[in-house]
Amino acid sequence: MKTIIEPFRIKVVEPIRMTTRQEREQALREAGFNVFLLKAEDVLIDLLTDSGTGAMSSEQWAGMMRGDESYAGARSFFRFQQRLRDITGFEHILPTHQGRASERILFEIVGGPGKVVPNNNHFDTTRANVEHSGAEAVDLVIDEGKDPKSRHPFKGNLDPKKLDALFKDVGAHRIPVVMVTVTNNSGGGQPVSLQNLRDVRALCDRYDTPMFLDACRFAENAFFIKKREPGQGDRSVSAIVRDMFDLAHGATISAKKDGIVNIGGVLLFRDEELNRQARNLLILTEGFPTYGGLAGRDLEAMAQGFEEVLHEDYLTYRIRSVEYLGEKLLERGIQIVEPPGGHAIYIDAASFCPHIPPGQFPGQALVCALFRHAGIRTVEIGSVMFGRGDRPADMELVRLAIPRRVYTQSHIDYVLEAIVEVYAERDRIRGVRIVDEPPALRHFTARFEEL
Ligand code: F0G
Repeated sequence: MKTIIEPFRIKVVEPIRMTTRQEREQALREAGFNVFLLKAEDVLIDLLTDSGTGAMSSEQWAGMMRGDESYAGARSFFRFQQRLRDITGFEHILPTHQGRASERILFEIVGGPGKVVPNNNHFDTTRANVEHSGAEAVDLVIDEGKDPKSRHPFKGNLDPKKLDALFKDVGAHRIPVVMVTVTNNSGGGQPVSLQNLRDVRALCDRYDTPMFLDACRFAENAFFIKKREPGQGDRSVSAIVRDMFDLAHGATISAKKDGIVNIGGVLLFRDEELNRQARNLLILTEGFPTYGGLAGRDLEAMAQGFEEVLHEDYLTYRIRSVEYLGEKLLERGIQIVEPPGGHAIYIDAASFCPHIPPGQFPGQALVCALFRHAGIRTVEIGSVMFGRGDRPADMELVRLAIPRRVYTQSHIDYVLEAIVEVYAERDRIRGVRIVDEPPALRHFTARFEEL
């Protein structure tokens, strides 16, 4: 059998609404050409993010009913804690309401002016939280990770040579932690190899600095390791996941990705003292350590989701359905970040719209074109998100993030057809300029005008 099917059947459906081109044009204008400001109802296929948008299983929904809503010591917390301990081997497990809450707590403790935090690529909220603490965020992905055409199997790897140079340059005392994001979202959803994690860890040991994972998509990363890393093919994904976490001193997780829940996060430590400080901050802003800003039912859903995400038939379907979209786009001559990532396809907007210079935001222009043409919502990961002043981002990408267990193959085929049609008329896509922007994380709320 060649066809890889969705390993589930559908019990609950949510209608989606077709709109006319005129309605979409109107909606786009009202949103200031920023798709974050659209009403979700006006979107037909929503590929804005894979975060918190997954479909929960019947067992997760059953867990929602079993949720223990006690303020302290809830049964649901202990189930969550045990599941995370089983998967990661970590002793200290703090629940938070989402990934950035874990980040804010971590960097409030270890960040601060004068500090430098390396990462393969910081995700936007991670960078913002590092910078908010006064520290500097530095991206050290391998060079292949910045080349959309490179077929390197682990383009998410952090470059140990660049890390060593940074340690020598700024001094280990200024680097409180080395982060590694698995998979590397901002770099195309590309995986990090076990060997690379070992190499980075060895360097961290040399400079006596802890290594932390940004482990939002740990299961997808582990599946890529199983498929691509020599000697890993016969091992279980769970065993590989355990190896990844065994190398880390701590981790931040947004459970909205590989936890397959709509809300939730985790903060993990080995160090007793760091955990104590984090727990105190958690109580200050999130809640008591046995609920961390969540309802008991959310903890149940997470406990179950973190188990289901490790099923290999699920991961086979998951990675294949993303790869299918990517392969078909490449066949039609549309450049994406190769090879396809774990949770998303990233179109190279710079080559899609060669007539639009970085200063006119080709990624944002393409995002608008896809919505206007077919009601598909995607997101710019380029100079709107990561440019600073006149300095453009390394790449001008448009991300098509695939929610987990939500869309079927015909939805994906529709997306494909729409992109091919827009590509045929790409000369007509116009650049945009920013007319209003906030001081940080501008992509969320900036307003644009078409040129
Ligand atoms: N780290 C990475 C690698 C992420 O992709 C995200 C979120 C976060 C941290 C923050 O987690 O949203 O739960 O606070 N990424 C989403 C996305 C929003 O669309 O890629 P959060």
